[in-house]
Amino acid sequence: MRSARRHSRLARAKTKASGKSERDMALIDEAAAVRDNAYAPYSAFRVGAAVRAGSGAVFTGVNVENAAYPEGTCAEAGAIAAMVAAGETAIAEVAVIADCPDPVAPCGGCRQKIAEFAGPDVVVTMGTVAGARAQLTVRDMLPGAFAKSSMDKA
Ligand code: THU
Repeated sequence: MRSARRHSRLARAKTKASGKSERDMALIDEAAAVRDNAYAPYSAFRVGAAVRAGSGAVFTGVNVENAAYPEGTCAEAGAIAAMVAAGETAIAEVAVIADCPDPVAPCGGCRQKIAEFAGPDVVVTMGTVAGARAQLTVRDMLPGAFAKSSMDKA
C-alpha cells in the first residue's frame, strides 16, 4: 500500500524529530514502508525492520548486502544501530517483515542483538508482505540467551 495519504502521514511524522516517527502507524507498517529501501541485489530478499524505543520513538532499518557477502547486514541490525546512535538503549517493541511464505523469522544473530536491548516480555511481530502475522516474546524467541550476566564470576 503506497497511497499518497500514507506517505504524507509518514513524512509529517518524520519531520517531528530527526527521522524518528511517532505512534501514528503500527510498527509492522513502519517496517513494511522502509523495506522499499532494502539493498538486496544478491539475495533479492528484501527485509524491513522497526524498533520502538523506550521513549516511543521508532527507528527503522533494512538489510544492506555487499559484494563481499559476509559484510551484509540485517534489517534488525540497522534499526538497532539507528536507535543506539540516537541515544536510546531500551527496545519496547520490534517488527520485521519480508516477502516470504511464512512470517519472517529473525536470524539467530538478530535474536541476540534484540535480546541485548529488549526485556524477555518484549513482543516481536513478524510479517509477510501478503499480510500474515506472527508474534513471539523475546523470551520465546531466544531461550537461554547469553547475556551480560552470563559473564559474572561464579
Ligand atoms: N535478513 C535480515 O535482514 N534479517 C533477518 O533476520 C534474516 C535475514 C537478510 C540478510 C540477507 O540480506 C537476506 O535477508 C537473506 O538472508
